[in-house]
Amino acid sequence: MWYWDAPRLVFGEDAVEYLEQISGKRAFIVTDKIMVDLGFVEIVQKKLQKANIESTYYDEVEPDPSVQTAKKGVELCREYKPDWIIGLGGGSPMDVAKAIDFMYENPDMKLENLSPFIQFKLHDKCKIIQIPTTSGTGAEITWAVVLTDLEEKRKLLLASREIVADVAIIDPQFPAKMPPKLTSSTGLDALTHAVEGYVSIWGNIYSDAMCEKAVELIFQNLETAVEDGSNMEARENMHNAATMAGLGFGNSQAGIAHSMGHSIGAVLHKPHGFCVGIALPYTMDFNISAEGGPKEKYAILARKALSISEKDDFEASKILIEKIKDVMKNVGAPLSYKEFEIPKKDFEENFDLIVLNADQDSCTATSRPIPTREEFQMLLRKAYEGE
Ligand SMILES: [Fe+2]
Repeated sequence: MWYWDAPRLVFGEDAVEYLEQISGKRAFIVTDKIMVDLGFVEIVQKKLQKANIESTYYDEVEPDPSVQTAKKGVELCREYKPDWIIGLGGGSPMDVAKAIDFMYENPDMKLENLSPFIQFKLHDKCKIIQIPTTSGTGAEITWAVVLTDLEEKRKLLLASREIVADVAIIDPQFPAKMPPKLTSSTGLDALTHAVEGYVSIWGNIYSDAMCEKAVELIFQNLETAVEDGSNMEARENMHNAATMAGLGFGNSQAGIAHSMGHSIGAVLHKPHGFCVGIALPYTMDFNISAEGGPKEKYAILARKALSISEKDDFEASKILIEKIKDVMKNVGAPLSYKEFEIPKKDFEENFDLIVLNADQDSCTATSRPIPTREEFQMLLRKAYEGE
C-alpha cells in the first residue's frame, strides 16, 4: 500500500482570484516583510475582502525560520481566531504556516508532536492555503516543516502527511517579480527535486509522472525565465514545474544532493537552491557508476526529457548530466562550492561536521546507492573543487 498526498491545486493566470470564492470569517496570513513591500499581502487581502473575509498578517518570518518565530505567530493566531491560515511567500513562510496551523488546532500538544506516528486534529477548526511566490521549494505541497530551535541550537525536522495544505494557489504573477539570481537558484532546487524524486527508492508511478514532466518543463523554460523575467509563459511553466516537482519528491523523497546541500547550507549558512543544485551533477556521476545505481532510470528520464535515442543507459545518463551542467552555466549558477564563494578555510574547518550531517540526513537513507562516510568525503571534496 502506498499513498499520494496533494492539496487542491488552483493554477494559472489570476489563480489568486480563487480567494474570492472561499467561505469563512477570518484569515491569518503568514508571510515576510518582502511580501508586504512587493504588495503581495495587499493583493491577497483585497481578494479576501471580496469574499467578506476579514484578514490580518504576521510578517516576521525570517529565512531559516525559528521555532520561536512560529510560537510567536501562534499566539497572535489564537487571539485572532481565524478559520483560514494562508502561507504566502517562499518555503519559510509556508513552513511556518504549517507549524502555526498545527499548534493552533492542537493547543495541548508540543510542536515536536508533529510527527507521522502521532494522531492529532487538523483541517477542523481551520483550513490552510499555501501561495508560493518562488518557483522551487515545493513547500506548498510537501508535508515537512524545517525550523531552527534557537534556544537549543538545533534543526527541528517535523513531518506528517496530515499537514498537507487544503489548497495551493499556483499563480505566476507572484514569481514573475523574482530577480534572475533567485529565479536561477529556486529553479535548480526544483530540478534537483524532480531528478532525485525520480530515482528515490520511494519513487512510484505517480511521482515518476510528475518528475518527468517537471524536468521537461524546467529544461524548456528555466533559461528563458532567468534571461527574461517578463516572459509570462516561461514563468507560468516554471511555476507549475516547481509544484509538479514538489508533488513528485514530496510523494517519494529527495536524495544525496539534498543531504549534501542541507549540510553545507546549515553549517556554512548558504541558501538552499544553489547548495543542492551544485551537488546534483556530482551525485549523479557517483550514482551511475555504482553497483545497483539508478542509471536505467536516469537514462529513461534523459530519453523522455531530451528526446534522445541513445540506447546505452550509461551514455544516456551522461548526456542528462551534461545537460544539467549546461543549464546551470546558462543560468549563471556556480558549478562548485568554491565558485559559490565558500572560503576554503571555512569548508576545511567544518568538513567533519558537514560529512557527518550529510551522512545522517533523512534524504540519505532513501538514496541508491547509499554512500559510505568516505564516499561522502570524496563527493563533497569534488563538489568543492569542481572536479
Ligand atoms: Fe530542495
